[in-house]
Amino acid sequence: MDMTIRPRRLRGNDTLRRMVRETRMDKSSLIYPMFVKEGNDIREEIPSMDGQYRYSVDCMGFELERLLNAGVKNVMFFGIPDQKDEVGSGAYDENGIVQRALREAKEKFPELYLITDVCMCEYTSHGHCGMLCGHDVDNDRTLDLLAKTALSHVEAGADMVAPSDMMDGRVRAIRTMLDQAGHTGTPIMSYAVKYASAFYGPFREAAGSAPSFGDRKTYQMDFHNKREGIKEALLDVEEGADIIMVKPAMAYQDVITEVRKVVNTPVAAYSVSGEYAMVKAGAKLGYIDEERIIGEMAVGAYRAGADIYLTYFAKEIAKMMDEGK
Ligand code: PBG
Ligand code: ZN
Repeated sequence: MDMTIRPRRLRGNDTLRRMVRETRMDKSSLIYPMFVKEGNDIREEIPSMDGQYRYSVDCMGFELERLLNAGVKNVMFFGIPDQKDEVGSGAYDENGIVQRALREAKEKFPELYLITDVCMCEYTSHGHCGMLCGHDVDNDRTLDLLAKTALSHVEAGADMVAPSDMMDGRVRAIRTMLDQAGHTGTPIMSYAVKYASAFYGPFREAAGSAPSFGDRKTYQMDFHNKREGIKEALLDVEEGADIIMVKPAMAYQDVITEVRKVVNTPVAAYSVSGEYAMVKAGAKLGYIDEERIIGEMAVGAYRAGADIYLTYFAKEIAKMMDEGK
Protein backbone atom coordinates (compact mmCIF):
# COMPACT_ATOMS: atom_id res chain seq x y z
CA MET A 1 0.00 0.00 0.00
CA ASP A 2 1.40 3.37 -1.00
CA MET A 3 -0.46 5.89 1.14
CA THR A 4 1.49 8.62 2.90
CA ILE A 5 -1.60 10.54 3.93
CA ARG A 6 -4.02 8.58 6.05
CA PRO A 7 -6.76 10.78 7.59
CA ARG A 8 -7.67 7.96 9.98
CA ARG A 9 -4.36 8.44 11.83
CA LEU A 10 -5.83 11.40 13.70
CA ARG A 11 -8.95 9.50 14.73
CA GLY A 12 -7.22 6.75 16.68
CA ASN A 13 -8.44 7.52 20.16
CA ASP A 14 -10.50 10.00 22.09
CA THR A 15 -7.56 12.00 23.47
CA LEU A 16 -6.13 12.51 20.01
CA ARG A 17 -9.51 13.32 18.47
CA ARG A 18 -10.01 16.02 21.10
CA MET A 19 -6.50 17.42 20.52
CA VAL A 20 -7.17 18.01 16.84
CA ARG A 21 -10.74 19.29 17.14
CA GLU A 22 -11.48 22.31 15.00
CA THR A 23 -14.55 23.55 16.81
CA ARG A 24 -14.47 24.31 20.52
CA MET A 25 -17.37 25.63 22.48
CA ASP A 26 -17.60 27.48 25.73
CA LYS A 27 -20.45 28.07 28.17
CA SER A 28 -19.78 31.79 28.15
CA SER A 29 -21.17 31.97 24.60
CA LEU A 30 -24.53 30.40 25.45
CA ILE A 31 -27.69 32.48 25.88
CA TYR A 32 -30.83 31.00 27.40
CA PRO A 33 -34.18 32.44 26.20
CA MET A 34 -36.85 32.52 28.89
CA PHE A 35 -40.53 33.46 29.12
CA VAL A 36 -41.74 35.69 31.94
CA LYS A 37 -45.44 36.12 32.48
CA GLU A 38 -47.68 38.57 34.29
CA GLY A 39 -49.30 37.13 37.42
CA ASN A 40 -48.30 35.28 40.56
CA ASP A 41 -47.28 31.78 41.46
CA ILE A 42 -47.01 30.69 37.84
CA ARG A 43 -44.73 27.95 36.57
CA GLU A 44 -46.59 26.45 33.65
CA GLU A 45 -45.08 24.12 31.11
CA ILE A 46 -45.37 25.17 27.49
CA PRO A 47 -47.32 22.42 25.68
CA SER A 48 -45.30 22.46 22.47
CA MET A 49 -41.97 22.85 24.29
CA ASP A 50 -41.49 20.02 26.78
CA GLY A 51 -39.32 21.17 29.66
CA GLN A 52 -39.76 24.92 28.98
CA TYR A 53 -41.96 27.01 31.25
CA ARG A 54 -43.64 30.35 31.61
CA TYR A 55 -42.72 31.91 34.94
CA SER A 56 -44.24 34.75 36.87
CA VAL A 57 -41.70 37.15 38.36
CA ASP A 58 -42.08 35.64 41.85
CA CYS A 59 -41.23 32.15 40.50
CA MET A 60 -38.50 32.81 37.97
CA GLY A 61 -35.72 32.74 40.58
CA PHE A 62 -35.98 28.96 40.60
CA GLU A 63 -35.03 28.75 36.94
CA LEU A 64 -32.41 31.50 37.10
CA GLU A 65 -30.69 29.67 39.91
CA ARG A 66 -30.65 26.41 37.97
CA LEU A 67 -29.14 28.29 35.06
CA LEU A 68 -26.38 29.81 37.17
CA ASN A 69 -25.68 26.45 38.77
CA ALA A 70 -25.22 25.01 35.30
CA GLY A 71 -22.72 27.78 34.57
CA VAL A 72 -24.85 29.76 32.11
CA LYS A 73 -24.85 33.46 32.86
CA ASN A 74 -26.64 34.92 29.89
CA VAL A 75 -30.42 35.03 29.73
CA MET A 76 -32.81 36.65 27.29
CA PHE A 77 -36.28 37.63 28.50
CA PHE A 78 -39.50 37.44 26.52
CA GLY A 79 -42.56 38.98 28.13
CA ILE A 80 -46.12 37.72 28.24
CA PRO A 81 -48.34 40.59 29.36
CA ASP A 82 -51.87 40.55 30.80
CA GLN A 83 -53.27 43.08 28.41
CA LYS A 84 -52.73 43.94 24.79
CA ASP A 85 -53.73 46.96 22.72
CA GLU A 86 -53.41 48.36 19.22
CA VAL A 87 -50.11 50.10 19.93
CA GLY A 88 -48.53 47.52 22.23
CA SER A 89 -48.21 49.92 25.13
CA GLY A 90 -47.27 47.09 27.51
CA ALA A 91 -43.95 46.82 25.69
CA TYR A 92 -42.71 50.22 26.90
CA ASP A 93 -44.56 50.48 30.20
CA GLU A 94 -42.07 51.00 33.02
CA ASN A 95 -44.08 48.51 35.06
CA GLY A 96 -44.47 46.07 32.19
CA ILE A 97 -43.68 42.41 32.65
CA VAL A 98 -40.15 42.49 31.22
CA GLN A 99 -39.30 45.66 33.12
CA ARG A 100 -40.43 44.10 36.42
CA ALA A 101 -38.57 40.87 35.68
CA LEU A 102 -35.42 42.87 34.95
CA ARG A 103 -35.55 44.78 38.24
CA GLU A 104 -36.10 41.59 40.21
CA ALA A 105 -33.39 39.63 38.39
CA LYS A 106 -30.84 42.46 38.68
CA GLU A 107 -31.42 42.66 42.39
CA LYS A 108 -31.48 38.94 43.19
CA PHE A 109 -28.94 37.69 40.65
CA PRO A 110 -26.46 40.48 39.92
CA GLU A 111 -24.07 37.98 38.29
CA LEU A 112 -26.52 37.33 35.44
CA TYR A 113 -26.16 39.15 32.13
CA LEU A 114 -29.64 40.29 31.15
CA ILE A 115 -30.66 40.61 27.52
CA THR A 116 -34.15 41.50 26.31
CA ASP A 117 -36.01 40.75 23.14
CA VAL A 118 -37.35 44.06 21.84
CA CYS A 119 -40.55 43.64 19.83
CA MET A 120 -44.22 44.55 19.82
CA CYS A 121 -45.93 41.28 18.82
CA GLU A 122 -46.47 39.96 22.35
CA TYR A 123 -48.11 43.28 23.27
CA THR A 124 -50.27 44.20 20.28
CA SER A 125 -53.90 43.06 20.05
CA HIS A 126 -53.33 42.11 16.39
CA GLY A 127 -50.07 40.23 17.10
CA HIS A 128 -47.94 42.03 14.51
CA CYS A 129 -44.47 43.28 15.33
CA GLY A 130 -45.35 46.96 14.91
CA MET A 131 -48.11 49.52 14.64
CA LEU A 132 -50.62 48.99 11.88
CA CYS A 133 -51.73 51.31 9.14
CA GLY A 134 -54.69 49.51 7.61
CA HIS A 135 -53.53 45.94 7.25
CA ASP A 136 -49.85 46.67 6.89
CA VAL A 137 -47.24 47.39 9.53
CA ASP A 138 -46.27 51.05 9.52
CA ASN A 139 -42.48 50.86 9.58
CA ASP A 140 -41.58 54.43 10.44
CA ARG A 141 -44.21 55.00 13.13
CA THR A 142 -43.10 51.77 14.81
CA LEU A 143 -39.49 52.90 15.20
CA ASP A 144 -40.20 55.31 18.01
CA LEU A 145 -42.12 52.66 19.98
CA LEU A 146 -39.30 50.14 19.58
CA ALA A 147 -36.76 52.69 20.74
CA LYS A 148 -38.94 53.56 23.74
CA THR A 149 -39.24 49.86 24.55
CA ALA A 150 -35.47 49.36 24.39
CA LEU A 151 -34.87 52.42 26.56
CA SER A 152 -37.36 51.27 29.19
CA HIS A 153 -35.65 47.87 29.30
CA VAL A 154 -32.26 49.46 29.81
CA GLU A 155 -33.61 51.76 32.51
CA ALA A 156 -35.05 48.70 34.27
CA GLY A 157 -31.68 46.93 34.20
CA ALA A 158 -31.16 45.27 30.81
CA ASP A 159 -27.46 44.87 29.99
CA MET A 160 -28.13 44.40 26.28
CA VAL A 161 -31.14 44.81 23.98
CA ALA A 162 -32.04 42.60 21.04
CA PRO A 163 -34.57 43.99 18.54
CA SER A 164 -36.39 41.20 16.68
CA ASP A 165 -39.11 43.14 14.83
CA MET A 166 -37.35 43.48 11.44
CA MET A 167 -38.45 47.08 10.82
CA ASP A 168 -36.05 49.02 8.60
CA GLY A 169 -33.96 51.51 10.54
CA ARG A 170 -34.72 50.24 14.01
CA VAL A 171 -31.13 49.73 15.09
CA ARG A 172 -30.34 53.39 14.36
CA ALA A 173 -33.53 54.54 16.10
CA ILE A 174 -32.71 52.49 19.20
CA ARG A 175 -29.03 53.54 19.23
CA THR A 176 -30.00 57.19 18.96
CA MET A 177 -32.52 57.05 21.79
CA LEU A 178 -30.22 55.07 24.09
CA ASP A 179 -27.35 57.47 23.43
CA GLN A 180 -29.51 60.53 24.06
CA ALA A 181 -30.45 59.07 27.43
CA GLY A 182 -26.79 58.49 28.28
CA HIS A 183 -26.74 54.72 27.70
CA THR A 184 -23.91 54.86 25.21
CA GLY A 185 -22.35 51.70 26.62
CA THR A 186 -25.32 49.36 26.21
CA PRO A 187 -24.81 46.97 23.29
CA ILE A 188 -27.43 46.11 20.67
CA MET A 189 -27.66 42.56 19.38
CA SER A 190 -29.69 42.84 16.22
CA TYR A 191 -31.85 40.04 14.90
CA ALA A 192 -30.52 41.30 11.59
CA VAL A 193 -30.97 38.21 9.44
CA LYS A 194 -34.32 36.90 10.56
CA TYR A 195 -36.33 34.76 8.20
CA ALA A 196 -40.12 34.35 8.08
CA SER A 197 -40.12 30.80 9.38
CA ALA A 198 -42.46 28.02 10.44
CA PHE A 199 -39.79 27.14 13.02
CA TYR A 200 -41.24 29.91 15.25
CA GLY A 201 -44.55 28.04 15.65
CA PRO A 202 -44.05 26.76 19.22
CA PHE A 203 -42.76 30.16 20.35
CA ARG A 204 -45.90 31.91 19.15
CA GLU A 205 -47.98 29.45 21.10
CA ALA A 206 -45.75 29.92 24.15
CA ALA A 207 -45.93 33.71 23.98
CA GLY A 208 -49.43 34.05 22.54
CA SER A 209 -47.94 36.22 19.82
CA ALA A 210 -49.26 34.76 16.56
CA PRO A 211 -50.60 37.45 14.19
CA SER A 212 -54.41 37.56 14.21
CA PHE A 213 -54.44 37.99 10.41
CA GLY A 214 -51.92 37.58 7.61
CA ASP A 215 -48.29 36.64 8.28
CA ARG A 216 -44.95 38.30 8.89
CA LYS A 217 -43.66 38.03 5.34
CA THR A 218 -43.77 41.79 4.68
CA TYR A 219 -41.11 42.33 7.35
CA GLN A 220 -39.29 39.04 8.04
CA MET A 221 -37.10 37.71 5.23
CA ASP A 222 -37.89 35.24 2.46
CA PHE A 223 -35.97 32.07 3.27
CA HIS A 224 -34.91 31.63 -0.36
CA ASN A 225 -32.53 34.58 -0.03
CA LYS A 226 -28.94 34.64 1.16
CA ARG A 227 -27.53 37.78 -0.45
CA GLU A 228 -30.40 39.72 1.09
CA GLY A 229 -29.23 38.39 4.45
CA ILE A 230 -25.85 40.00 3.86
CA LYS A 231 -27.57 43.24 2.95
CA GLU A 232 -29.53 43.19 6.23
CA ALA A 233 -26.42 42.31 8.24
CA LEU A 234 -24.27 45.07 6.73
CA LEU A 235 -27.04 47.63 7.10
CA ASP A 236 -27.45 46.87 10.80
CA VAL A 237 -23.70 47.07 11.40
CA GLU A 238 -23.77 50.48 9.74
CA GLU A 239 -26.66 51.55 11.97
CA GLY A 240 -24.70 50.61 15.06
CA ALA A 241 -25.47 46.97 15.84
CA ASP A 242 -22.77 45.45 18.06
CA ILE A 243 -23.72 41.81 17.42
CA ILE A 244 -25.44 40.37 14.36
CA MET A 245 -27.84 37.48 14.75
CA VAL A 246 -28.96 34.89 12.22
CA LYS A 247 -32.24 33.12 12.94
CA PRO A 248 -33.25 30.25 12.79
CA ALA A 249 -29.99 28.30 13.07
CA MET A 250 -30.25 24.72 11.93
CA ALA A 251 -31.61 25.14 8.40
CA TYR A 252 -29.62 28.37 7.91
CA GLN A 253 -26.01 27.38 8.50
CA ASP A 254 -24.96 28.56 5.04
CA VAL A 255 -26.28 31.99 5.98
CA ILE A 256 -24.32 31.98 9.25
CA THR A 257 -21.16 31.20 7.27
CA GLU A 258 -21.72 33.95 4.70
CA VAL A 259 -22.63 36.57 7.28
CA ARG A 260 -19.57 35.66 9.35
CA LYS A 261 -17.38 36.37 6.34
CA VAL A 262 -18.66 39.88 5.74
CA VAL A 263 -19.27 41.43 9.16
CA ASN A 264 -16.64 42.50 11.68
CA THR A 265 -18.92 41.97 14.69
CA PRO A 266 -19.59 38.79 16.64
CA VAL A 267 -22.25 36.61 15.03
CA ALA A 268 -25.01 34.95 17.03
CA ALA A 269 -27.17 32.04 15.89
CA TYR A 270 -30.59 31.41 17.42
CA SER A 271 -31.73 27.81 17.54
CA VAL A 272 -35.45 28.53 17.75
CA SER A 273 -38.49 26.94 19.34
CA GLY A 274 -39.33 24.67 16.41
CA GLU A 275 -35.85 23.19 16.44
CA TYR A 276 -36.23 22.50 20.15
CA ALA A 277 -39.72 21.03 19.73
CA MET A 278 -38.62 18.66 16.95
CA VAL A 279 -35.77 17.28 19.04
CA LYS A 280 -38.03 16.82 22.05
CA ALA A 281 -40.75 15.12 20.00
CA GLY A 282 -38.33 12.83 18.19
CA ALA A 283 -36.66 11.84 21.45
CA LYS A 284 -39.97 11.17 23.16
CA LEU A 285 -40.87 8.77 20.38
CA GLY A 286 -37.51 7.07 20.79
CA TYR A 287 -36.47 7.87 17.22
CA ILE A 288 -33.35 9.86 18.06
CA ASP A 289 -30.72 10.18 20.80
CA GLU A 290 -31.62 13.57 22.28
CA GLU A 291 -28.28 14.41 23.84
CA ARG A 292 -26.21 13.58 20.80
CA ILE A 293 -28.57 15.49 18.53
CA ILE A 294 -28.36 18.55 20.78
CA GLY A 295 -24.57 18.36 20.56
CA GLU A 296 -24.51 18.05 16.79
CA MET A 297 -26.89 20.96 16.33
CA ALA A 298 -24.83 23.20 18.60
CA VAL A 299 -21.47 22.25 17.09
CA GLY A 300 -23.01 22.71 13.63
CA ALA A 301 -23.91 26.31 14.42
CA TYR A 302 -20.44 27.10 15.82
CA ARG A 303 -18.71 25.26 12.98
CA ALA A 304 -20.74 27.33 10.51
CA GLY A 305 -19.27 30.44 12.13
CA ALA A 306 -21.43 31.41 15.10
CA ASP A 307 -19.63 33.01 18.03
CA ILE A 308 -22.71 33.01 20.24
CA TYR A 309 -25.51 30.45 20.43
CA LEU A 310 -29.02 31.12 21.72
CA THR A 311 -30.75 27.91 22.69
CA TYR A 312 -33.45 26.47 24.93
CA PHE A 313 -30.97 23.62 25.49
CA ALA A 314 -28.39 25.91 27.17
CA LYS A 315 -28.46 24.02 30.48
CA GLU A 316 -28.20 20.64 28.76
CA ILE A 317 -25.26 21.80 26.64
CA ALA A 318 -23.52 23.22 29.70
CA LYS A 319 -23.95 19.89 31.46
CA MET A 320 -22.56 18.01 28.49
CA MET A 321 -19.53 20.31 28.53
CA ASP A 322 -19.00 19.52 32.24
CA GLU A 323 -19.12 15.83 31.43
CA GLY A 324 -16.61 16.30 28.63
CA LYS A 325 -19.02 15.21 25.92
C1 PBG B 1 -40.65 38.18 18.37
C2 PBG B 1 -39.79 36.96 18.33
C3 PBG B 1 -40.09 35.70 17.80
C4 PBG B 1 -39.01 34.88 18.12
C5 PBG B 1 -38.08 35.66 18.78
N1 PBG B 1 -38.57 36.95 18.89
C6 PBG B 1 -41.30 35.21 17.11
C7 PBG B 1 -41.67 35.73 15.79
O1 PBG B 1 -40.94 36.49 15.17
O2 PBG B 1 -42.78 35.40 15.38
C8 PBG B 1 -38.91 33.43 17.80
C9 PBG B 1 -38.15 32.60 18.81
C10 PBG B 1 -38.38 31.13 18.70
O3 PBG B 1 -39.13 30.62 17.86
O4 PBG B 1 -37.75 30.42 19.52
N2 PBG B 1 -40.72 38.84 17.15
ZN1 ZN C 1 -42.36 40.39 16.98
